[in-house]
Amino acid sequence: MAAIARFGSRVVPELPQIVQQCRDKKQLVEGPFIEQFEEAFARLPGSGHVRTCSTEYGRMALYFILKSMQFPEGSEIIVPALTFWVVPEIARVAGLTVVFADVDPITFTLSPAAMERAITPNTRAVLPTHLYGLSCDMDPILALARQHNLKVIEDCAHSLGAEYKGRMVGTLGDASFFSFQAFKPLNTYGGGLAWTRDAELARRVGEYADGEEWPTDARVESILRQGKLQYTFIRPKVFTYSVFPIWYAASFIGAKPEERLWEGVRSLNPLPARYRGRYTNVQAGIGLAGLQHLPEFIERTRRHARILDNILGDVPGLTLPSTPEGRTHVYYQYCPYVPDTGALVKRCIRRGVDVAPMHVDVCTTMELFGWTGASAPGAAKSSTAVQVPVYESLQDAEVERVGRLVRAQVIRLGRTDRSLAVVG
Ligand SMILES: Cc1ncc(COP(=O)(O)O)c(C=O)c1O
Repeated sequence: MAAIARFGSRVVPELPQIVQQCRDKKQLVEGPFIEQFEEAFARLPGSGHVRTCSTEYGRMALYFILKSMQFPEGSEIIVPALTFWVVPEIARVAGLTVVFADVDPITFTLSPAAMERAITPNTRAVLPTHLYGLSCDMDPILALARQHNLKVIEDCAHSLGAEYKGRMVGTLGDASFFSFQAFKPLNTYGGGLAWTRDAELARRVGEYADGEEWPTDARVESILRQGKLQYTFIRPKVFTYSVFPIWYAASFIGAKPEERLWEGVRSLNPLPARYRGRYTNVQAGIGLAGLQHLPEFIERTRRHARILDNILGDVPGLTLPSTPEGRTHVYYQYCPYVPDTGALVKRCIRRGVDVAPMHVDVCTTMELFGWTGASAPGAAKSSTAVQVPVYESLQDAEVERVGRLVRAQVIRLGRTDRSLAVVG
């Protein structure tokens, strides 16, 4: 039976034609799709200004937004303790002092109460991260921001298409940024986008984005090749005989090869050379097609989440991801709490399903941020949750297989625990 990878990649069927068209017209790098994509993206919320940013990274959109906001020296920004380490690091490189605030363990998103405790006279901004496809509880966050005169910059890297009280995430605060990496909700093989409601801020972000150099054709071709390779390696038939055997062997020797998948944790000052460069025409062409397919991608992913909910709903010891009233989830990841994360991950991998620990970081425990040691029990609790494959490119039958396997193994682990308790 084919093994199932932890991540899927949303690839639009029109991709080969778009790439060929750009090659034929010698418009891989510069061309008309960029403006068309920005216009199409801006129509999603229907208001505000958007600017594509960077050849490879959505984080550069955050960097440009922060630089454009021109905060005075010594300004603090509140960042959730549970997020990808790059986000607070970029804020630091942009000149801000990062103050972490805990997350709500039920939704994994910024806790408004923790945000309030983190506010000092130097706080100038807050960065609510709509982690794993679910919106933060934005009303109390926006109310606190108004009360303390803070800028709100939403991290939408995981959550394009999610809503809060009927409004698209990324349009609730002062500015927001999106990531278009290969595993993200809109995959243009890298790059990102900044949204803001403020025309002057958009102009400054645009100056930064346009101040970057155009990448060469060769770099763009290399990005397209890498994207194709990633897509190929995570398809069940190829994954089974390529990456999966490494995962399988690692489950016996306690190695963590997946750590090599992620960028090494380090200071980003100065910004690495790969971070530089403008967003290109071919990426924008792929993005235009991606926007057309987005509703169906989201619908399929949600259907998969419902399949998992149905199969796992009554399993003792397992807490399913929940979606509070007024929010919609786009399931970038599906993360239940389970009784024994390490044992469950091993058992699933040995049976062909790449269930994984949560891949974001508890930043308060990271040396890079000086082991702040700040209490963040909500973020720490994420070590007892797992990521179960839910992505849209899976077939429903594959999702059912994933669900049945997780169900059976959690139940078995429960039995083992009880028998150990009796023996002990
Ligand atoms: C929560 C979060 N924010 C921001 C980013 C940055 O996106 P990018 O890798 O495109 O810079 C990521 C990347 O995975 C992320 O997980």
